[in-house]
Amino acid sequence: MLMLNKTLPLHISIITLFPDIFANHLKHLPISRAIEKGLLQIDFINLRNFAIDKRGTVDSPPYGGGPGMILRPEPIFDAINFALNRAIPAMREPAHIIFLTPRGKTYNQATAQHISTLKNLVIVCGRYEGMDQRVAEYFHAQEVSIGNYVLSGGEIAGMAIIESVTRLIPGAIENQDALINESFNPGQPTQTEHPQYSRPEEWQGLKVPQILVSGHHKKVDDWKTQNSLT
Ligand code: 6GU
Repeated sequence: MLMLNKTLPLHISIITLFPDIFANHLKHLPISRAIEKGLLQIDFINLRNFAIDKRGTVDSPPYGGGPGMILRPEPIFDAINFALNRAIPAMREPAHIIFLTPRGKTYNQATAQHISTLKNLVIVCGRYEGMDQRVAEYFHAQEVSIGNYVLSGGEIAGMAIIESVTRLIPGAIENQDALINESFNPGQPTQTEHPQYSRPEEWQGLKVPQILVSGHHKKVDDWKTQNSLT
């Protein structure tokens, strides 16, 4: 298909045993709009299709003992190569590969901004007790975690990454101003946004801070700065 768009979409391949976990999330903003506008393409690759046998085996017990099962290297390797070959080579930068694992470096807004500038991303969602380390090593993959707690798999983490990155693709969200003052924006001096209030002005005996309804722009701005935690 001929691309009339000057900017190529961000293409994300997600390798997972549970592609259906993602389906509903993609139907909602901002992801749905980004896909509709041709800014984002998401392909799911079911790891089960790359099982080592007819029974669908993708895991084995860990060397050295321990609980649970480990995702074997061969299915992940084959699934990644499938994803890489499917991307149109001449139009693509080399793919950036992310392995989602609680062992990875903690994801943050700066990582989201970096990823939003890429064109070809492959995300591998771990399951069970982990993945054979050699595949990440082989592909020089970036290992990413979304925080210091344990999830049963990388799917929720994958959704967090997709949503946070999508917001940063120019044109994906209607009001681009929303991005400028946003919490955790590395270009901003403060870490989080000030608290927000809407109507009614008094609710359950609780009033909106007086300065915000004063119409005094300078004082409002000062209040916002003072009430953003550093
Ligand atoms: Cl990326 N995966 C899993 N399984 N648990 C996590 C995580 C990822 N990030 C935080 N906890």
